[in-house]
Amino acid sequence: MARTTKDARQIYVLNGPNLNLLGEREPQVYGRITLAEIGAAVLRRAKELGFLIEFRQTNSEAELIGWLQEARKKAAGVILNAAGLSHTSVALLDAARALEKPLMEVHLSNPYAREEYRRHSFISEAANGIICGLGPDGYLYALDALARRLKD
Ligand code: DQA
Repeated sequence: MARTTKDARQIYVLNGPNLNLLGEREPQVYGRITLAEIGAAVLRRAKELGFLIEFRQTNSEAELIGWLQEARKKAAGVILNAAGLSHTSVALLDAARALEKPLMEVHLSNPYAREEYRRHSFISEAANGIICGLGPDGYLYALDALARRLKD
């Protein structure tokens, strides 16, 4: 039977458009580490902390919204790098608000040190914490923060 109730140890790590190209795309901004390598590091850390990870990436806004709605039922918390959609999507903000679970927003780069249009994130309005500019380590810091919050 499909699991529909929230698992207190389940964390969703959701990645938006173009993050599948990490390692190749603008390495001067995003570095050489791939999303698969970030996923592996997150899984290792989650195991140490006693949490389960669902790590996903999509280029589709609709799919990302669907995953947030799924997380609403199945996850205890979410780490979200919505990539370019952070700056454009009210629909994603609505889904993040409907989540009603701790939400950590992550960006590899520091959007405040980049173009003006990256300085506003809709997601931030629903996030409990925001980590940016720390590269792949940002995912691990977000996980530590989420784990601490969920254990409290
Ligand atoms: C990003 C920052 C966004 O501005 C950009 O559109 C991305 C990646 C980051 O992780 O630094 O695609 O979310």
